[in-house]
Amino acid sequence: MCGIVGYIGKKQAAPIILDGLAKLEYRGYDSAGMAVFDGEKVNITKAVGRLKVLEELTHGGETMPGFAGIGHTRWATHGAPNDVNSHPHFNKDRTITVVHNGIIENYIPLRNKLIKKGYEFVSETDTEVVAQMLDYYYNGNPLDTILKVLHRIEGSYALGMMFADHPGEIFAARKGSPLIVGQSKEGCFIASDVPAILRYTRKVYFVDEQEVVRLETDHMHFYTLDEEEVEKEATTIEWDADAAEKAGYEHFMLKEMYEQPKTVTDTLLPRIKNGKIEIEELGLSDEEIAAIKKIHIVACGSAYHAGVTGKYVLEGLARIPVEVDLASEFRYRDPILEEGAMVIAISQSGETADTLAAIRESRQRGFKVLGIVNVVGSSIARESDNVMYTWAGPEIAVATTKAYSAQLIALYLLAVKFASVKKTIDEKLYQLLLRDLKRLPDQIELLLNNKEKIQHFANRYIGARDVFFIGRGIDYAISLEGSLKLKEISYIHSEAYAAGELKHGTISLIEEGTLVAAVSTQPALYQKMISNMVEVKARGAFLLAVTNEGNKEIEKVSDYVIYIPETNPYFSNSLAIIPLQLFGYYVAVGKGCDVDKPRNLAKSVTVE
Ligand code: G6P
Repeated sequence: MCGIVGYIGKKQAAPIILDGLAKLEYRGYDSAGMAVFDGEKVNITKAVGRLKVLEELTHGGETMPGFAGIGHTRWATHGAPNDVNSHPHFNKDRTITVVHNGIIENYIPLRNKLIKKGYEFVSETDTEVVAQMLDYYYNGNPLDTILKVLHRIEGSYALGMMFADHPGEIFAARKGSPLIVGQSKEGCFIASDVPAILRYTRKVYFVDEQEVVRLETDHMHFYTLDEEEVEKEATTIEWDADAAEKAGYEHFMLKEMYEQPKTVTDTLLPRIKNGKIEIEELGLSDEEIAAIKKIHIVACGSAYHAGVTGKYVLEGLARIPVEVDLASEFRYRDPILEEGAMVIAISQSGETADTLAAIRESRQRGFKVLGIVNVVGSSIARESDNVMYTWAGPEIAVATTKAYSAQLIALYLLAVKFASVKKTIDEKLYQLLLRDLKRLPDQIELLLNNKEKIQHFANRYIGARDVFFIGRGIDYAISLEGSLKLKEISYIHSEAYAAGELKHGTISLIEEGTLVAAVSTQPALYQKMISNMVEVKARGAFLLAVTNEGNKEIEKVSDYVIYIPETNPYFSNSLAIIPLQLFGYYVAVGKGCDVDKPRNLAKSVTVE
């Protein structure tokens, strides 16, 4: 959601900014813009639509020469996506320019105050108030002025700022929205995320909450809001820039689906040592694990769906009651957290505003939070008491696949570990579960290699209007994710239902030819599922079944069957989701949709 890139150094700024913004396209945006200081004045160009339009307008940055600049891709919140509302925003004489990710919550009273003092606002955005306030308080000292403004604004921000009378500096600040800075021999960089600058440097600094950075060509200085300078340690990014490239795949989503065997291996194997699960980063002794009375899982989107699966697995294996909440609901429902409760927050980006707020809410009440996070150094990783990383590497496609798969593995590991500590499973089952976990990567690979079959099937459904996914227990959790994958990238209306709930209303939506995907991977529920499938078939549904190898009976009621290899039923989500991801992907490709960057969506949802 909104991307920021800034540069000051020995090279031309505009091409670096455009290149960086292109690496942030996955975040979601609907317009773009940049400001570059040409030695005398600041030039600003903005363009609605894809970044390509801005690139063309500026001839790849050539028409905007200069060694310092800031750029932005905007995901509209306040005001429509148009040239006026796009960033950078500026003061009247264009000497102060600002790019912003986040929301300035008190912008209306601040704007009204400035209007009374004679300021004129041109845009509908909350961000413009920052530029105008910087102008109002400006005393020739940018740092001093920025601090004054930051003390007065409420909400969240990652900011990039330039002052025309200080051409040798650019500034950055952050609170609640992601921001990193980086340094190379050729200059200093600001960015919303590492891939934007990885081509130029691996040396990055994670900007802390309420921290301001002053960047020059050769130096960076970090300050607290009290203007105290702070020393910071650089982090060297280990992963390769290639990890954020398509590597010959047509889409990032396809590439990331194909990375799932590796993602699962990387998340799993380092945590199995000498036939035992060891999760060092958990920070809990066996006594503390044994004392857990309840688990609250909070997350959004697909991470929430992973959490729903986690509920079934944790409750089933470790016999610990689990509540799963959408983070946006948890934070405002005054949740009851009692002694012995543990909170688990799941997030790929580590920046989701609602999940972060749920963590803060829990910690404020004195409860420890375990973060299951993909992005190292992200806000959620930093604000959780303990972090279990999902080693999925950078995920670029907006629709998550490999990070979701890694989240499932993290939850399985916790469930099996807790079960063994609580002795709700015996050693024999423990070893069988470990065996089945280790088999998952190869089994996922097998399913991926079967993609043509699913592509063929998907092509028949590119014209579908509605698709329903049904399942019971864990299969319901799989249905939720399968349905989301389809709708978010193909724009086909789709819903997931607990199969037993169908008769309470949904069945009235089934018409002749409606596609119903029935997920049936829980042997104990096969018969119940067959009954539900017969009910929809009798009303004209076309039935796609996803089930375990050997469940031949299902063929009698299905029109099309996809089999998944044998695993423990608690882990079947990791396998059944693969054909459903492929199905969503190929329907979207068949429809000609922008698979990696679906309309209206953002990868990292940093506003509530
Ligand atoms: C967005 C993404 C989803 C993701 C959700 C939660 O909606 O498009 O793929 O599941 O946010 O994000 P998180 O980064 O917290 O996992």
